[in-house]
Amino acid sequence: MHAALVTSFDRPPQYTEVPDPEPGPDEVLVHVLAAGLHPRVRSGAAGTHYTSDGALPLVPGFDGVGRTEDGRRVFFAGLHAPRGSMAELVAVPAGRLVELPPGLDDVTIAAAMNPAMSAWLALRHRADLQPGESVLVLGATGNAGRLAVQLARHLGARRIVGAGRDATSLEVVHRLGADAIVPLTADDVAERLAREAADVDVVVDYVWGAPTEQALAAVTGARSDPAHLLRWVHVGATAGPTITLPAATLRKTNVQVSGSGQGSVSPEGMVGAITELATLLPQVRPAVDVVAVPLREVAAAWEARTASGTRVVLVP
Ligand SMILES: NC(=O)c1ccc[n+]([C@@H]2O[C@H](COP(=O)([O-])OP(=O)(O)OC[C@H]3O[C@@H](n4cnc5c(N)ncnc54)[C@H](OP(=O)(O)O)[C@@H]3O)[C@@H](O)[C@H]2O)c1
Repeated sequence: MHAALVTSFDRPPQYTEVPDPEPGPDEVLVHVLAAGLHPRVRSGAAGTHYTSDGALPLVPGFDGVGRTEDGRRVFFAGLHAPRGSMAELVAVPAGRLVELPPGLDDVTIAAAMNPAMSAWLALRHRADLQPGESVLVLGATGNAGRLAVQLARHLGARRIVGAGRDATSLEVVHRLGADAIVPLTADDVAERLAREAADVDVVVDYVWGAPTEQALAAVTGARSDPAHLLRWVHVGATAGPTITLPAATLRKTNVQVSGSGQGSVSPEGMVGAITELATLLPQVRPAVDVVAVPLREVAAAWEARTASGTRVVLVP
């Protein structure tokens, strides 16, 4: 079969021929229809994801849409290197397959499921967001942040605040349903976060690093009832891998910090979320700008610059 193949962590994958996968017991052969080039896929192919073991070569790709030999259209996720979805065929554990209802095309689902899953697990499962509560999305301008805004609205959030760097993308976030937007680049960002998000119930955090330190200080410092529970869910670290967390923050406010990702969410939890989203996404109409690229152009797609909110999808 043809596949993308990573042979060096500092070079893009190359389109090449590799042996067909041989499914083991309880595995199903899937013909891949579309596979998203998510940040998780890039970090896996660069050997920098926290699950990476450094072994090469590997086929990149964490998830995808495919068709089984018996004709079912399915979504699958949670592939481990060296096995990946950027190939014509992949062997997937049977328990990881979720059958897809009609409603959205293969490429849109391949683009949207990973960012949607990040937001859904954080909002629905980690934070247990209730109708009428309010949400701050930190890093709202990317694919995942936009979906967090859409899914928070779907779950009945009363007020949604979107914070991010890019002014043009923030306008899109506003149109998608955010009640207020806060540019993380503004000189008075702390004051604006304190004004707009002081009493949020849930924060979905895609940035970490310095913007999280700033937002945590601004929000916890401005709460009208410091004992009211604030659930802060870390999902991504686009702005940095660490923060400094002042001890007093945890004493002066009732803030609960947790994370959501591979490991803290079990494979069964991931399959459960995908099953829920398979039905939900056609209703939500995910705001992802998709660029479909033939798999044979994987090396060029890897190097191309794409705007926030755009997701490249490789099509074998
Ligand atoms: N844990 C999980 O389950 C899970 C699942 C999916 C994704 N993620 C993580 O979530 C993050 C976002 O994913 P995505 O799919 O939305 O990626 P994306 O579409 O590429 O968007 C990247 C986002 O990060 C922002 N960003 C980049 N550098 C930044 C910085 N220095 N300061 C502030 N914001 C910055 C971008 O803002 P601009 O618009 O200003 O460029 C944009 O909003 C990634 O870290 C990804 O690995 C985690």
